[in-house]
Amino acid sequence: MIGVFDSGHGGLTVMRELVARFPQRQFVYLGDHRNAPYGDKNGAEIVKLTGDACGTLFAMGCKLVIMACNTATAVAGRKLQQEWLEPNWPGRKLLGIIAPTVETATQTPWHVKEPVFPQKYNNDTIALFATSATVSSGVYETEIHKRCPRVQVVAQPCSKLVPLLESGSPREVLEQAVQEYVGALLSKVEKQPEWAILGCTHYPLVADLFRAALPAKTRIANQPKLIANALEDYLSRHGDLAGQAGPALYYTTGRVQEVRRVASSLLGEDIFFELVETTTPPVKAA
Ligand code: DGL
Repeated sequence: MIGVFDSGHGGLTVMRELVARFPQRQFVYLGDHRNAPYGDKNGAEIVKLTGDACGTLFAMGCKLVIMACNTATAVAGRKLQQEWLEPNWPGRKLLGIIAPTVETATQTPWHVKEPVFPQKYNNDTIALFATSATVSSGVYETEIHKRCPRVQVVAQPCSKLVPLLESGSPREVLEQAVQEYVGALLSKVEKQPEWAILGCTHYPLVADLFRAALPAKTRIANQPKLIANALEDYLSRHGDLAGQAGPALYYTTGRVQEVRRVASSLLGEDIFFELVETTTPPVKAA
């Protein structure tokens, strides 16, 4: 089994892509809906909640867990990978989703940490839409600038968007919020962005609204697809971590019926969730 984790509904955009792309594997989803959104929480809280949720997926039998959440990856990913994973879950792997996104935006492999030709002359503008926690972490800017120092990364925190999606808000409300954030970002750039990173896995749920609000020339990095590509590459080298085929499973820490109702309306398919408590093994908050 491969675990897929997000604070709430957003990771379902990644889960949907993975389930379609890898029918020979079993995926188990955990949405920490009770604690969503993560985007306005502090670092220590995000580390603890992410570790507890990923630990729960390891306890279910996953050898590999994907943090399908930019906020969790940006704020907690490295700390959990370096300090928590091996002592608590030896031999297991925890993957984030920022590396494959940066690879696509910079057209440079993750292991290359410096500008190479032709990317060192790349002066694209990249628009980043993300949660406040992801934007304040500065991870996207840092990693993009290592590889493409002339690229201008312009970030726009979209604080209202995750709460609006989690509560199943009507389309007109979502459309207004997306237009507001895109307008705010475009007012900060001198030229139209070549790329837009929807740097929160909730945002593909309103990708059409971003498409309509962004200039026609701006390409949108499709995060669920590029994570599936990255997983395909990873499993070609670590196939032993993937396990066998099986039905997709969905767990939530939230109110099961409410989560099912909103998820089904956002994804356009009926998704059955089971309740789970994320308790083991505990991660220290500080
Ligand atoms: N889907 C999460 C992300 O990719 C959302 C974060 C939140 O809960 O605010 O950042």
